[in-house]
This record gives sequence, structure tokens and C-alpha cells, in this order.
Amino acid sequence: MANPLHADFYADQAVQRTATIIDNQKMAEGTFRVRFKCPEMAKVALPGQFLMLRINDRNDPLIGRPLAFYDILPDESGEPSLIDVMYIVKGNLTSRLVDCQPGEKVDVWGPLGNGFEPIDTDHLVMVAGGIGQTPFLCLAKEYLGTQSFGRERASASKITFCYGARRNDLLAGEKDFEALGIDVRLCTDDGSLGHHGLVTDLLTQVINERPDGSTMQVVCCGPEPMMEAVAAVSSQHGIPCRVSLETPMACGIGICFSCVTKVQMDDGDWDFKRTCVDGPVFCAEKIVWH
Ligand SMILES: Cc1cc2nc3c(=O)[nH]c(=O)nc-3n(C[C@H](O)[C@H](O)[C@H](O)COP(=O)(O)OP(=O)(O)OC[C@H]3O[C@@H](n4cnc5c(N)ncnc54)[C@H](O)[C@@H]3O)c2cc1C
Ligand code: FES
Repeated sequence: MANPLHADFYADQAVQRTATIIDNQKMAEGTFRVRFKCPEMAKVALPGQFLMLRINDRNDPLIGRPLAFYDILPDESGEPSLIDVMYIVKGNLTSRLVDCQPGEKVDVWGPLGNGFEPIDTDHLVMVAGGIGQTPFLCLAKEYLGTQSFGRERASASKITFCYGARRNDLLAGEKDFEALGIDVRLCTDDGSLGHHGLVTDLLTQVINERPDGSTMQVVCCGPEPMMEAVAAVSSQHGIPCRVSLETPMACGIGICFSCVTKVQMDDGDWDFKRTCVDGPVFCAEKIVWH
């Protein structure tokens, strides 16, 4: 088997398929979840990886858009088969995808990117803002051991999901996390639900409750200023933090260099790394945010 730590590995596992939409439903204001059948991809996807998606038989947009695997579900035989993607209606693709009906088709290729490396810890803290919750449902299921992704899973005695949005009607999928029985903490900018404030407040609370000597891992996805702030809080407390970047992408497979991000190298200098093949998950301390 190819070395999963080598960037080539990620696209080598990818398949391209035309998949049939089974369901496309509203999850929150401006946020939808599309479900399609693609067993070949569902079988090999890992938490934190992504796929590229375009609408079959449409020329606009011509290229795909990167979207995280939100959930992977079995078919009647129990084999991984259905893929859920949660998306915010934003631009060219998503404003058309929202009108797609069951039976219509999408072109998908993936899984792509490195995904989250499984790391044992006492307490896994997942921090999300905006549409940043999407890579975490699969990750939580893997840590809980309720779903297997064909690799040795890591363990965590406790999982906390800290999730923030501007208003309560923008929170999407939080009930999916609550259904897993993990510790879910919500916040809104306007105080309409949960803590009135930022996800960094929630993260600080969780860190302050940490028993002495216990280990913690933070994973984070969302708007870049939020990820930078979460990375700073984690670093202040000496807690390892990994971020999943949402850098715009064109090819998704390492060719076009449209997705580069500045990453600190071991020699102290920085270099551009491609988010699609070197990421989207990076150690937060390696990211040069500005
Ligand atoms: C690994 C990864 C996972 C993601 N997962 C999800 C997910 O699960 N759900 C979700 O909703 N979104 C996700 N995203 C973000 C999503 O891919 C983008 O929001 C995508 O652009 C939406 O497509 P669109 O055609 O609807 O919008 P677009 O027409 O692409 O426009 C969206 C906005 O981004 C800007 N933009 C687009 N491309 C570029 C570019 N190359 N340079 C600068 N600005 C640009 C546009 O000006 C516009 O403001 C993910 C991104 C990455 C990299
Ligand atoms: S999107 Fe083309 S190199 Fe990353």
C-alpha cells in the first residue's frame, strides 16, 4: 500500500463517478445537505478528506468545488454507500445545487486530501464556525468507535464539540452531534442560542475545566480569523491544534497551485504548500496566517 503520509497517496485513492442524488434538504437558513450514492468513494473516504463536486451535464461552473464528507452511511447490506455533503448556498455551484432534485446527477471525484490523522488523547475538542462543522461528524464517529473507516482508530475518553454561528437559525447539524451523545456547546454572536459570544470563549471554558495531567487535542475548521484565534488559544495553553483549511481550489489534485497556503518549514523559513494535497489538515502552529 502507498505511504499515506505522502501527498501522492491522496489522489491515488480517488475515484471519479457520476452519482445520483437521493435527497437534498434544508438543514438551516441557507444551508442544505445533499445525499448521493457512491459506494466506491464511500468505502475509502477518511474523516477530514474532501471530494470535488460539479453538477452533471451543466457547464456552469465548469470545474468542481471542494466539499467535506459530512457523513457516510451504509446501504441495505451494511456496506458504506451513501455520502452526505452539507453546504452553504454561496456562489456558482451551490446556488444551482440547491435546486437539484432527487434523481438528478452530480459528478464527484475523491476522496482527496490528507484528512485527520488519528491521534490518541484523553479529550478531543472539535471547534467549528460557519460551515466548519462538516469534517467533524465522521471524525467523532470514528473516535467513538461507532463507525470504522478501514484504519486503526484513535481513542478519546471525551469528545466536545464547540460550534458557533452568527445566529441560531444558521446552526446546521448540531442535533447530529448531540445524537452521538458527545458534549455539544453552542454559541451565537447575537446570543439567540447558547453562549452569547465566540467559539474561543467556549474553547477557553473547556480548557479551564481540564483535569490536571490530562491530554487534549484541538481540531478546528471555519473562517480563517476564527481558526487563527483558536490556534492562538490552543498554543497559549500548550495544546496541540490541527486546522482544516477551506482555501478555494480549482483542480483539487495538486496540479494548478491555486490553493497554496504559507506553511512554516523546519529550517525556520516558510514555503507555499498546496492545501489540496498537503492539507487540508495542517498543524496550526505551522500555518503562517498573514
Ligand atoms: C477542503 C475543503 C472543504 C470544504 N468543505 C465545505 C463544506 O463541507 N461545505 C461548504 O459549504 N463549503 C465547503 N468548502 C468551501 C467551498 O468549497 C466554497 O465555499 C466554494 O467556493 C463554494 O462554491 P460556489 O460555486 O457555490 O461558490 P463560488 O462561486 O466558488 O464563490 C464562493 C465565494 O468564494 C470566492 N471564491 C471562489 N473561488 C475563489 C478563488 N479561487 N479565489 C478567491 N476567492 C474565491 C467567490 O468570490 C465567492 O465570494 C470547503 C472548502 C475546502 C477547501
Ligand atoms: S487545487 Fe489545484 S493544486 Fe490544489
